Amino acid sequence: MTPINEPIRAFRDALGTFATGVTIVTTLDSAGDPVGVTASSFNSVSLDPPLILWSLAKDSLSHDAFCGSGHFAIHVLAASQEALSNRFARRGDDKFAETPWRKGTLGSPVFADFAALFECRTRHQYEGGDHVILVGEVVAHDARDAAPLLFHGGRYAERRPRPGAAEASVDIEHGRFTDDFLFYLISRAHFQTSRPTRERLATAGLNMAQYLTLAVLSMDQPLTGSAIIQQLAHTGHAPEAGTLGAMVTAGLLTPAGDSFALSETGRERLIDTLAFGKAQEADLANHFTPAELAETKAVLRRIIELTGADVPIGWRN
Ligand SMILES: Cc1cc2nc3c(=O)[nH]c(=O)nc-3n(C[C@H](O)[C@H](O)[C@H](O)COP(=O)(O)O)c2cc1C
Repeated sequence: MTPINEPIRAFRDALGTFATGVTIVTTLDSAGDPVGVTASSFNSVSLDPPLILWSLAKDSLSHDAFCGSGHFAIHVLAASQEALSNRFARRGDDKFAETPWRKGTLGSPVFADFAALFECRTRHQYEGGDHVILVGEVVAHDARDAAPLLFHGGRYAERRPRPGAAEASVDIEHGRFTDDFLFYLISRAHFQTSRPTRERLATAGLNMAQYLTLAVLSMDQPLTGSAIIQQLAHTGHAPEAGTLGAMVTAGLLTPAGDSFALSETGRERLIDTLAFGKAQEADLANHFTPAELAETKAVLRRIIELTGADVPIGWRN
């Protein structure tokens, strides 16, 4: 145990092990101007009557406004609001300059975005050492389906759901897979994410074997027909007899002796398809945090590495 008279740093570090959300609390000062601070000391107190609390440093510039206004609004921040949190943690800045707000039920500034909002009438103020503890009665509240911004160990953090208890992966009797079977999830995610691209290829008159032929040649060319077939054998989409000739006739490939190379048209078709896929990816990525995406990619790369011993060299990375 560390005695409490040890350096205050150790006390702060110990407190920092308690993970919290992050809020911005707002009110109006005596001139009617908006005032706000970032605060992680928010907590629930009572359901009936509905009470919450937070604590404010006595030396904060907004101390007098919060203790005198009689009302405040607590915005529980979403994971996407880290920059806003930093702005309201700066002392006395013009914090509201770039953030649109409106007056809430009791007059406190209310932002458009939040994970949850509690509009409060100030009910009690208690002495709390170098802080004042403000207890508010909630007169209105709202909550959205947004990942919360978290704070832990002196830095921002993100929520990561714990994996649920593993269920039986395959329901053999009824012939269906459950959501917990990893291979099923990978296959289904691939099938669904690639569907718009497959439809676009079909509209352009290309099948999967032709598209993959263009992709293989973009990595290494020219290649003989048998080299292309060998590269694609493990995908189940190797070009059949006549496919490569038909691609030459369609202007997608250029013959080079007994080998094939990409024509300008073939290259353009491939780039168009890749650009379309990238746009689809960007839309999907918007639903995830950067950390979730990075972790998903890392896991997929590891799976590819672990299962790729016998795939052709060009597919290894
Ligand atoms: C994640 C985080 C949590 C914070 N929690 C509190 C808090 O609960 N109470 C508080 O008084 N200050 C807290 N602060 C610090 C204030 O936001 C900061 O002192 C701010 O500059 C006060 O603004 P003002 O002096 O303009 O009133 C926190 C800062 C951060 C980054």
